[in-house]
Amino acid sequence: MKKFAITIAGGGSTFTPGIVDMLLSSYEEFPISEIKLYDNLAERQEPIGKACDIMISERYPDVKFSYTTDPEEAFTGIDFVMAHIRVGLYAMRELDEKIPLNYGVVGQETCGPGGMAYGMRSITGVLEILDYMEEYSPDAWMLNYSNPAAIVAEATRRLRPDSKIINICDMPIGMEDSFATILGLESRKDMIVRYYGLNHFGWWDSITDKEGNDLMPQLTKYISEHGLVLDTDAFQHNDESWKETYRKMRDVIALTPEIIPNSYLKYYYYPDYVVETSDKEHTRANEVMEGREKQVFSTAEKIVEAGTAEGIEFEADAHATFIVDLARAIAYNTKERMLLIVPNNGSISNFTYDAMVEIPCLVGSDGPEPLHIGEIPHFQKGLMEQQVNVEKLVVDAYVEKSYTKMWQALTLSKIVPSAKVAKDLLDALIEANADYWPELR
Ligand code: NAD
Ligand code: G6P
Ligand code: MN
Repeated sequence: MKKFAITIAGGGSTFTPGIVDMLLSSYEEFPISEIKLYDNLAERQEPIGKACDIMISERYPDVKFSYTTDPEEAFTGIDFVMAHIRVGLYAMRELDEKIPLNYGVVGQETCGPGGMAYGMRSITGVLEILDYMEEYSPDAWMLNYSNPAAIVAEATRRLRPDSKIINICDMPIGMEDSFATILGLESRKDMIVRYYGLNHFGWWDSITDKEGNDLMPQLTKYISEHGLVLDTDAFQHNDESWKETYRKMRDVIALTPEIIPNSYLKYYYYPDYVVETSDKEHTRANEVMEGREKQVFSTAEKIVEAGTAEGIEFEADAHATFIVDLARAIAYNTKERMLLIVPNNGSISNFTYDAMVEIPCLVGSDGPEPLHIGEIPHFQKGLMEQQVNVEKLVVDAYVEKSYTKMWQALTLSKIVPSAKVAKDLLDALIEANADYWPELR
């Protein structure tokens, strides 16, 4: 049986140990010969690398392991790249969140001006990794979590149209875990879901069990009354700010009482509320640095100090299971049904043909085969048209190095109140991102 070689790009990510753990736990169903970590920041990656080395040699001594900052070493002889890089690290995430808040605008990692600023940084980093992969392992697939996925996906569609890259998001499956809990099901895989939209901007309009019984009435009723339940096992979304987002689902679903919105729509439906309840001095980036980042790196240190990973565990969650499932679907042509970010090409028949949309696909060895969605209602279509053009304008601005296109993108965003605020914000973001963005003219 073939064994697969995998490179995790963004080796120093807080999500790397979870993915390594999940790869080891899935070994029987998806055997691996080698795992390599790649990062462009050696000191960030080293503690994770050392801990993973111990973990792997204890559990699967036959799996080769290494970590490196050398692209040729990292990307030669591999079958998959699992990427989750953060260009600019949490320091820049913090600015993405705090700068807009100073102008009374939502400050968020992937939504609104913060997401656009992050997009302008991420495109270069993601293309770089894709190009390394194609140079050293031309047959490999890149499975990409790097955010902001909507903008990154539009950039790769436009700039690397023939590349074997699939852009993904774990939010829908995180929410589906919660749906399963509400319904008393063992697993989200007991449901068949229909979902459509853009990344962090979509809706479930059908959920049934395997026999075809409609589960939507029970789910929508529950969410309207209580919001989403927290999966207490999910280590990523257990902080207070995420709990608040899940409670706010009651108001978010109220706009479409019969279908279920992605929780990220909170930022677009209720930007005034989000700004009012944000702490300009302490945003999600701070919460993550104090929480997940500390936790992951201190666990790594403990393993290294003890010289063993026995009794010291990293936590794997939906993020890790999804990317390993996707690799398996490609490797074994399983045709598993998964939500992926793919070119619309008419799947949503009354929506922009060349938009990157998030819809169900059947995944096999040739990649994703998107399913047909058909026509969507005016409300969702109107919101999506506006947002997809924001995303396209950011990529225009990146490619053309155009100040005007970036100003248009910010002005078009539903959560920026005026062209004046957009311009002030743009000037502040340009200053903060001087080391990362192309120079706009
Ligand atoms: P993190 O800062 O802990 O890790 C990111 C790593 O990427 C760092 O070690 C950094 O040095 C490295 N890096 C940055 N630029 C690089 C480059 N050009 N080449 C190689 N490595 C580079 O961040 P995190 O919180 O663990 O998140 C990682 C990424 O995953 C982020 O983009 C985040 O938004 C994304 N993410 C996406 C989803 C999704 O649903 N798509 C879910 C969770 C996280
Ligand atoms: C969800 C989204 C990701 C996003 C993450 C932020 O999982 O799908 O795209 O990066 O949340 O989580 P954090 O804990 O870093 O705020
Ligand atoms: Mn996401």
